[in-house]
Formats: sequence, structure tokens, C-alpha cells
Amino acid sequence: MTEIEVLISEHEIKEKVTELAAILKEEYQDKHPLLIGILKGSFVFMADLIRSMGIPVEIDFVQLSSYGAARESSGKIKVGHRLKTPIKGREVLVVEDIVDTGLTIRFLLNYLKRKRPASLKLCALFDKPSRRVVDVPIDYLGFTIPDAFVVGYGLDWNERFRYLRDLCIVSEEVK
Ligand code: IMP
Repeated sequence: MTEIEVLISEHEIKEKVTELAAILKEEYQDKHPLLIGILKGSFVFMADLIRSMGIPVEIDFVQLSSYGAARESSGKIKVGHRLKTPIKGREVLVVEDIVDTGLTIRFLLNYLKRKRPASLKLCALFDKPSRRVVDVPIDYLGFTIPDAFVVGYGLDWNERFRYLRDLCIVSEEVK
């Protein structure tokens, strides 16, 4: 039986993205920042964020995964699509859908730091601090959420549910 429960509505997400975008617009106006999204989950957030910021930005994506078909991080980060844009001396903002154990984002931030950007910050829409394994500083955060597996707004469970407009909790019974 499919059990899906809305945790954060489309409307609330929209309001929060608009709020974050206004702050980022102030911060990055005239800096021509490079926004780096982590595939696949961040693509919806990235699309809404840059349009709401409304200033010139460049974007690139990296694909990192540690979950496979499971709901628990394996702890090992697999690199799929690599970064194509040189970042030395650039103002870089990493755009992440959700920070869970923190392992993915720590891996990426360490990798990017070695390439010596002018600045390196993190914007995450959702945070599950109760599950953190390593400490990661989130410079711009949307929502803190409880320890539950969530889908929708680009987030999936085994490639399902990315299309949902709300952020939802999906129960284990889903087949
Ligand atoms: P971390 O390395 O454990 O922080 O996991 C980060 C990545 O795991 C995110 O970019 C998501 O792709 C995925 N992830 C973590 N929690 C969830 C969730 O509740 N639903 C869907 N994907 C998640």
C-alpha cells in the first residue's frame, strides 16, 4: 500500500526558496557566482533558485551518490558526472537538496577547496541534523526536518517520486 504524507507543502517550499534567493541575490550581486548542484536531487531546487535570484549566475553539476537503491547512506561516495568548470578564483556556491549524514557534502567541499575558489559556501534546502555523522557548516539553510526518509521536489527513493511538488514522507510499505 502506498502511504505518502506531506511534510512541507509546495507553497511553503516556494516561500522559502524565494526568501533564500533574496538573501543570495544580495550576497552575490555583481560577483557572477558559479552555482554547483549535486545531481540528481538538487536539479529542481537549482532551477527554482536561480530564477528567483534573478541575477547572472553560471551553473554546473556534479553527480555524487552514496545511497543506490537503499534508504541509508552506504558511506562510500561514488562520483558520476564530474565538474567541467574551472573554479580557481571563482565565487562558488554549492546547491544541495538535503544534508543527511554530511558525508557527501564533506567529500565535495574538500574536493572543491583544493581547487582554490575565491569563496566556497553551501546552500541546502533541507537538513536532517539528527543523522549527522560529520560536521558540515551550512551557510544558507531552508528547513530543518525530522529523521524521516523524504521524497518529492527532486528527491527520490530508488528513482521514484521526484516529480511530487510537496516534500513528503513515504512509508516503508510502498511497493
Ligand atoms: P549524506 O551524504 O548522508 O548527507 O546524503 C546526502 C544525499 O543523500 C542527498 O544529496 C540525497 O541525494 C540523499 N538523501 C539523504 N536523505 C535523503 C532522503 O530523506 N530522501 C532522499 N534522498 C536523501
